[in-house]
Amino acid sequence: MAESGKILAGFLAPHPPHLVYGENPARNEPRSTGGWEMLRWAYERCREKIKAWKPDVILVHSPHWMTIVGHHFLRVPHLQGISVDPIFPHIFRYRYEMDVDVELADACYEETHKEGLIAKKMTNPNFRVDYGTIVSLHMLNPGWDIPILGISANNSPYFYSTEIGQEQMMKLGRATARAVAKTGRRAVLAASNTLSHLHFDREPELIEDMNKEVIFNNSQYQWDMLILDLMRKGQTDRLMAVLPEFMEKTAAEVKSGGLTWMLSAMGFPQLPAQVHGYWTVIGTGNAVVEWDLTQGAL
Ligand SMILES: [Fe+2]
Repeated sequence: MAESGKILAGFLAPHPPHLVYGENPARNEPRSTGGWEMLRWAYERCREKIKAWKPDVILVHSPHWMTIVGHHFLRVPHLQGISVDPIFPHIFRYRYEMDVDVELADACYEETHKEGLIAKKMTNPNFRVDYGTIVSLHMLNPGWDIPILGISANNSPYFYSTEIGQEQMMKLGRATARAVAKTGRRAVLAASNTLSHLHFDREPELIEDMNKEVIFNNSQYQWDMLILDLMRKGQTDRLMAVLPEFMEKTAAEVKSGGLTWMLSAMGFPQLPAQVHGYWTVIGTGNAVVEWDLTQGAL
């Protein structure tokens, strides 16, 4: 019988393609002169921790894999191809190759059904993985030597209300936690989300010109700081209470559910999160944040 699995940590792992572009990995075709180091260095610290933990799997919930009917789980053992960002094709054309934890996908599917949600398995071998999933996973583990499980953003709940959408994500989180436990996995979670999401619509001549990179406005910045302060203090209940207003005031990408899913799967931990870095990308607020559940549990 499999030993009981556990979630080792969760990361708020934003996915602007600019981060991959700034890093110049061989897998991405366009070349840059750098940029967005505050976020890239933040991710580098997370990479070291993940490597040391040697997890069995990294699960990622991405807002750019949108599904109208149900919550979908990648269920193809090996996926590869080229992913092109539809908004930024000039900076992100990435050759990806990944192993998917299909046993965990099956368990997540079953547990999600038990929560009364619609769940589906994505079994198309030619499926093109979205850039949100890829950027977050690349930034956390550029070696791609850890199996992954991608989860879609079921956007239909948002046709009704934020409240219904977030309730669903809490159920999805509980289902994920049970699936991890029963498959015996040592898992890392990633919520692929930006914070404040108002942005500029003109690119500088040099795309990575950091002289042009500022927050969209001070109100967005203040909101981001409030959210990060609650995370740093471990005030998760207050964070959950304020999230709906944050989503409304800043068009925050967390509305797509990844953060709520992750916090729910971790049991809404009251422990202080570590903010590894914050910086803007085309005016949006992005933070790399870690909840380390291994603390005191060795
Ligand atoms: Fe996005």
